[in-house]
Amino acid sequence: MSEQELIAGTSVELASGAKMPLLGLGTWQARGRSAVDAVARALEIGYRLIDTATMYGNEAEVGQSVAESGVSREDIFVTTKLPTSRTGRERATLEESLDALGFEYVDLWLIHWPPGGARPDVWERMLQLQAEGLAREVGVSNYSIRQIDEIERTSGRFPAVNQIEWSPALFDREVFDAHRERGVQLEGYSPLKTMNLRDRRLARIAEAHGVTPAQVVLRWHLEHGIVAIPKSTNAERIAENAAIFGFELSSSEVDELDGFSGA
Ligand code: A2P
Repeated sequence: MSEQELIAGTSVELASGAKMPLLGLGTWQARGRSAVDAVARALEIGYRLIDTATMYGNEAEVGQSVAESGVSREDIFVTTKLPTSRTGRERATLEESLDALGFEYVDLWLIHWPPGGARPDVWERMLQLQAEGLAREVGVSNYSIRQIDEIERTSGRFPAVNQIEWSPALFDREVFDAHRERGVQLEGYSPLKTMNLRDRRLARIAEAHGVTPAQVVLRWHLEHGIVAIPKSTNAERIAENAAIFGFELSSSEVDELDGFSGA
């Protein structure tokens, strides 16, 4: 398989059976032309997961790049998110996202932050919009396990995904296992920003594989089956962050990286 096919084809199965790519492009703070170009570059390289949010103000740019990419819509997994300020207006917000993106549906729609608690009522309305076909999958972001259990208790439905800040520096075995036990896919944001990329232990592992520290961090997510969405608007770093399919970390290297958090 070519590197592009590996980037595009490496995925995890969500509880529904749908597939989600393991590597995606984060777009927080990417605006205007630079957002359009970053998404275009990512799609060209083979990224098939693009993460946006109403709050990012770049859904139109993401939609434009997807439309111009020549990659079929069906083959691209786009996530967007409901801001806390829009709770109670879920339908209008999702319709506005779809309008901006130029899509009939989003692949994944997340509650961006717990809106002052788990808010099972918001979750119920999201499930309704999913049932109507506006979002293929629904999930949450920045939720604790306790909050996830709370929305499940009232609806009988776990979120497909919980997107939280995650990296070796934040690794927490209990949180990791709790997601797996519930069939909730863990998706990590800020995989690089939360790390000291100059850490000597990280540099040693990177050197052993002839790769960069950032690539080690992203490969570590892959080894754990955690979706990673590094953000970059720089064409070279977008490519660097995806060039993680030509090496593997040993289990002792994964263990060592797990230990970075001291948890
Ligand atoms: P840039 O957009 O200029 O590439 P995170 O996704 O962890 O929040 O990290 C995003 C930050 O890390 C951005 O500032 C981004 O800057 C930078 N970044 C992205 N890829 C890399 C990389 N491979 N090495 C170093 N910094 C990176």
